Amino acid sequence: MKIISHRGASAYAPENTLKAFKLAVEMGSRDFEFDVHLTKDGELVVHHDYTLEHTAGKHVKIVDCTYEELKKFNVAWHYRADRRPQHVPLLADVIDIIAPHADGLNFEVKNDGNLYPGIEKKLLDFIKHRAGLLEKSLISSFDHGTLKRLRALSHTVKLAYLGHGLSTMLLLPALRKARSVGAVNFHLALRIAFKLNISRIKKAGFNACVYTVNTQKDAKRMQAIGVDGIFTNHPDILGKWTLKG
Ligand code: G3P
Repeated sequence: MKIISHRGASAYAPENTLKAFKLAVEMGSRDFEFDVHLTKDGELVVHHDYTLEHTAGKHVKIVDCTYEELKKFNVAWHYRADRRPQHVPLLADVIDIIAPHADGLNFEVKNDGNLYPGIEKKLLDFIKHRAGLLEKSLISSFDHGTLKRLRALSHTVKLAYLGHGLSTMLLLPALRKARSVGAVNFHLALRIAFKLNISRIKKAGFNACVYTVNTQKDAKRMQAIGVDGIFTNHPDILGKWTLKG
C-alpha cells in the first residue's frame, strides 16, 4: 500500500508550501499529492482552496491575482505551530523539490466549472517538457469536465477519478464515469472506504486510493481491505509502520 503525502507533510508544516514538501522528502516520502491552480497571469501554482481565506486569512481569489501579487500573502498564517512566512509556491518549484525523490506524483487539478480555461494543456505541457515526469504523473480532479479535456488532449496521461459526495449507491455510476475517461485510479473518501466498495472498485479494474487517512487504526484497516494507497498528512508516522506490499 502506497503512503501518499497529502499536501506535503501537512501535519507538521503549513500545507502545500515548499516547507511541507521538503519535510515530506526528509521523512522519506516517495509518493506525493498536491493541488494545482492557475494565476491570472498564467502561472501554475500549488494551493488547496480557490481563495486564501483559510491559509492567509485574506479573501483573495487565486484566479484574480498575478503571481507577484499572490506571493505577498503569508499562507502559514493559519498554522499555529509556526506562522513564519510561506508563500503559495509555483508548481515548478514544488516539482524541483519532490520529483527527484518520487515514485508517484498526484497532480490534483482544481478547476470546478472550468474556472481556469486552458489549465489542462498548460499542465500537460509542463509535465511533458520535464524529463521523466510523465511516467511518474497521475492527474486527478473532482471536475469531470477537466478529466475529459485532459483525456482529449492526451491518450497516454494517467488519470484518476476523484469521488466527491459519493455513497455506496452512487459508486456504480461513478465507476462508469471513471471508465469513460480511461482512468487508472479511483480515489474515494475514507467515509465510504468499506471492503465491499473497495472490491467493487478493484473488480472494475481501478487502483483504489483513500483520502485522508491520519490514524494508524484506519491505515491498517485500509491495508487489510486491499486499498492500493492512502493520502495522509503524517507521512513519517505511517511510514514507520512499514505498511508495504
Ligand atoms: O486528492 C485526494 C484528496 O486530497 C482530495 O480531497 O479536498 O484534499 O482535495 P481534497
